Amino acid sequence: MAPRKSAPKIKPSKRPNPPNPPKAPKPPKPLVAGNWKMNGTRKQLGELRKLATALARKKAKAEVMICPPATLLGPMAAVKAKGVLLGGQDCHANVSGAHTGDVSAEMLKDAGAKAVIVGHSERRADHGETDKQVKAKVEAAHRAGLVAIMCIGESLKQRKAGETLKLVQSQLRGSLPNGCTAKNTVIAYEPVWAIGSGLTPTVEQIEAVHTALRTALMRRFGDEGAKMRILYGGSVKPSNAAELMAVPNVNGALVGGASLTAKDFGGIIDAYR
Ligand code: PGA
Repeated sequence: MAPRKSAPKIKPSKRPNPPNPPKAPKPPKPLVAGNWKMNGTRKQLGELRKLATALARKKAKAEVMICPPATLLGPMAAVKAKGVLLGGQDCHANVSGAHTGDVSAEMLKDAGAKAVIVGHSERRADHGETDKQVKAKVEAAHRAGLVAIMCIGESLKQRKAGETLKLVQSQLRGSLPNGCTAKNTVIAYEPVWAIGSGLTPTVEQIEAVHTALRTALMRRFGDEGAKMRILYGGSVKPSNAAELMAVPNVNGALVGGASLTAKDFGGIIDAYR
């Protein structure tokens, strides 16, 4: 009988380094942005000064921005209000050219803007802007080095018909180009029926939409999508800001009416102090 061979010793192979566990992305710094819409002349510059004074006294744990009408960008930039970023409310997709009445992203940047709102429901409704056009504006913002604050949201009819999630996901898909990052893009969920109406969705309704948007953003943009800020907008006031801003995946607010005075806007920013 052949001698029994002892089983060959197997040299323990060097254990490969354990793969780095995926790092949970740092939660983004919230953004509270005021959309002045078609309101304000140079008389209102005092509100910006008051806001800057209040912020100097009591620092906010959020980025603060005002998006005035284009006519006020230059004058607001001249105020040099510390702690308040400026943004535009819309831009044309082109750099320049024969487009009477329009303003390009490059012009907004030149006037002092760091960001631009695109695809607001008032633009979609008043000017018939489509997802495709909004996407071109997001691209224009990125080309100019501006942060695009891209708005989406359902009408009351769509909400009642149970179409909200499907609609906002489709608006998100159609209005964002590839290559968006957490630095150059912010999403604003604004139910059309909540804008300027004093009505707001319940916190559960907001959470459902923001969670769906987060999932869609992560699927498409990975880590960048995980860090991208998703603002809530629509009748945000000092009295409801803390509750709304505490909803998971709500990373700030887009504020219309209540951003026009330093007192009310400051009251909303207080949710982050
Ligand atoms: P509102 O507007 O705060 O006046 O409702 C929000 C917006 O349209 O951005």
